[in-house]
Amino acid sequence: MATTDINTAETARDVRTIDGVVDVIASTAPEIRTGLPGRRVTAEDENPSGETQMAADVFADDLLCERIGALDGVGEYASEERPESVDVGTGRLSVAVDPLDGSSNLKPNNTMGTIFAVYEAPLPAHGRDLVAAGYVLYGPVMTMVVARNGTVDEYVIHDDATRELVREDVTIPDEGSVYGFGGRVPDWTDDFEAFAREVEQDPSRKLRYGGSMIGDVNQILTYGGIFAYPTLESAPEGKLRVQFEGYPIGYVIETAGGATSDGTKSLLDVDKDELHARTPMYVGNTDLVAMLEAALD
Ligand code: F6P
Repeated sequence: MATTDINTAETARDVRTIDGVVDVIASTAPEIRTGLPGRRVTAEDENPSGETQMAADVFADDLLCERIGALDGVGEYASEERPESVDVGTGRLSVAVDPLDGSSNLKPNNTMGTIFAVYEAPLPAHGRDLVAAGYVLYGPVMTMVVARNGTVDEYVIHDDATRELVREDVTIPDEGSVYGFGGRVPDWTDDFEAFAREVEQDPSRKLRYGGSMIGDVNQILTYGGIFAYPTLESAPEGKLRVQFEGYPIGYVIETAGGATSDGTKSLLDVDKDELHARTPMYVGNTDLVAMLEAALD
């Protein structure tokens, strides 16, 4: 679950690069969004995790690779959409991106996100190598959440690519009121199902699951509660990817005062050495994540 050992050190040399990554993600988001209507069709390939790629996934990945790769100080770029990381320069920072998280929501026109993680290490890196992480949420309003230097800020991104700070030092509300759990219920483990039933017992909590992790996690950041994509009977490692989803969302949630877990420990302490490795994910209020860990024990 949560630990306080979040890496907040930015050397003077890295500051410009991290600023650059955040700027590229923010300034590319309106273009990604504008490019969506014509790209709600499947691409010819699958991504490295065996999922159907949408044309929009490939489009967003190409844009981000080109622009992040051009930044001074970035050595490697990796995304969920390509099998290997790409050497883009000589810098010591690596950037991992999920260009369109939740892209299966494109057809029904539901929320999606772009996730980014900046690591101070070659890829695949470790959660404790993170120096910044965040995401853009393509909802009715385009917003961006950035965790860096021990704080989380939220911005609105306007269509002209300007960014407006709307919430400073965001923290998870104490009384969590929403929960969202992925995976088919018959595929949940008995322990997780028992936990889910316990969470449901509290009449102040409501089910909110949208099928796009960024949409679901942003609800947790806004209303408090717990999001999980758990271990499944058919998939002990769950569905979500460590480098592109687990670590960056773990970093955002823990920086915002919440807790995260893979079932036994903080997501930031997960040890996996494959670029596309998966992990079960549980993120939210500290009391709920503690309750989850006790239930799975
Ligand atoms: O990254 C994959 C993803 O789209 C996440 O954004 C989301 O949480 C999950 O898959 C949804 O999976 P499912 O379709 O099994 O609910």
